[in-house]
Amino acid sequence: MYRYLKSLPGIDFRLEAVDATSLMAMKNLCGPLQPNLGGCFILSAVLADHVFQHLSQEEFEKVYASKSGVLRTLQEAIDISSLDFVIAFSSISGLFGTQGQTNYAAANTALDEETSRLADGFSFICPGILDSTLMLASESVTEKNLDHFIEWSMSAEG
Ligand SMILES: NC(=O)c1ccc[n+]([C@@H]2O[C@H](COP(=O)([O-])OP(=O)(O)OC[C@H]3O[C@@H](n4cnc5c(N)ncnc54)[C@H](OP(=O)(O)O)[C@@H]3O)[C@@H](O)[C@H]2O)c1
Repeated sequence: MYRYLKSLPGIDFRLEAVDATSLMAMKNLCGPLQPNLGGCFILSAVLADHVFQHLSQEEFEKVYASKSGVLRTLQEAIDISSLDFVIAFSSISGLFGTQGQTNYAAANTALDEETSRLADGFSFICPGILDSTLMLASESVTEKNLDHFIEWSMSAEG
């Protein structure tokens, strides 16, 4: 992906690693890009899987931070109404639920709601990418509880 984007003509492409929930880091990143910042894709995610009764407050908070927290920080860092688009990547976990991922499912639906309030924002409900890092890192996504997802999922290999 990186090599492909880098090879496209007419694109000034660079990678920056920042904590998107840090207001100072986001101001430093986005400030110099104004007023040419056209839009933003929110692709961040953190998993902290456990069955619901064993989920701690902290395990809700860090998963929410990677979704709603990132949008909130962007709103504080820049005038979000000046962007042409804000596109959040969300999950069908929020629609169907996934065993052990109440926090992740809820955080995605919260982000869906918050993005829908933006004039030029929407959330994209991604299919599951079965061989993605996120799926493979998930402790609760096993073959058994993926059954109801399979027909809504795909491989990164295409
Ligand atoms: N993969 C799927 O099947 C699937 C399905 C539906 C929806 N989605 C959504 O699609 C998006 C991309 O998923 P993916 O599969 O590419 O997952 P991924 O490889 O785990 O990518 C998520 C990225 O978010 C970053 N991140 C988390 N918190 C951050 C923060 N505070 N600041 C900056 N970066 C942060 C992580 O960085 P670190 O590596 O440094 O932690 C990681 O690089 C996510 O929003 C996910 O919810 C994925």
